[in-house]
Amino acid sequence: MIERIVVATDGSKCAREAAEYAVSIASKYGAKIIAIYVVDELFVDKLVRDLGYDKEELKNSFGRAGLKYVGHVAESAKRNGVDVEELVTLGVPEKMIVSEAREQKADLIVMGMVGEGGEKPLLGSVTERVLNSAPCPVLVVKPSNSVEE
Ligand SMILES: Nc1ncnc2c1ncn2[C@@H]1O[C@H](COP(=O)(O)OP(=O)(O)OP(=O)(O)O)[C@@H](O)[C@H]1O
Ligand SMILES: [Mg+2]
Repeated sequence: MIERIVVATDGSKCAREAAEYAVSIASKYGAKIIAIYVVDELFVDKLVRDLGYDKEELKNSFGRAGLKYVGHVAESAKRNGVDVEELVTLGVPEKMIVSEAREQKADLIVMGMVGEGGEKPLLGSVTERVLNSAPCPVLVVKPSNSVEE
């Protein structure tokens, strides 16, 4: 039985495609979706250190972007009658995704094979690390244009 699905999104095309799978699975099982975006704190710290950005402003900007990303997932869920919780947190993305899955006792994590970092045909580092420490199965969705004949 699948009751709770954590959907990790960084707003990328691949993550959006992954979210569509999650919504269709949730709709079939009557499951709830927890949509999560993590503001990458180490990246924020690097921008503060190297480029002199203001940490609070950066956190707010990334946070606003994150609200938009999880909002897209929520819209799709609601259109399909799926219950959804929207989360934007600060930390190390893979760690926050895994700890949220643990806390929520998620039955499944859904995420993209790649993300914002590019359309290269390699598993993204966040996905690889989640796969290594997830407390439940992980559905990794390939970007639609990467299917090789
Ligand atoms: N900050 C984040 N918050 C939530 N989910 C994320 C975040 N970053 C990535 N993801 C999830 O992980 C998937 C793969 O992205 P990932 O960051 O691993 O690959 P990439 O950006 O292509 O490469 P890399 O970041 O390793 O250079 C995304 O489609 C999304 O589902
Ligand atoms: Mg990335």
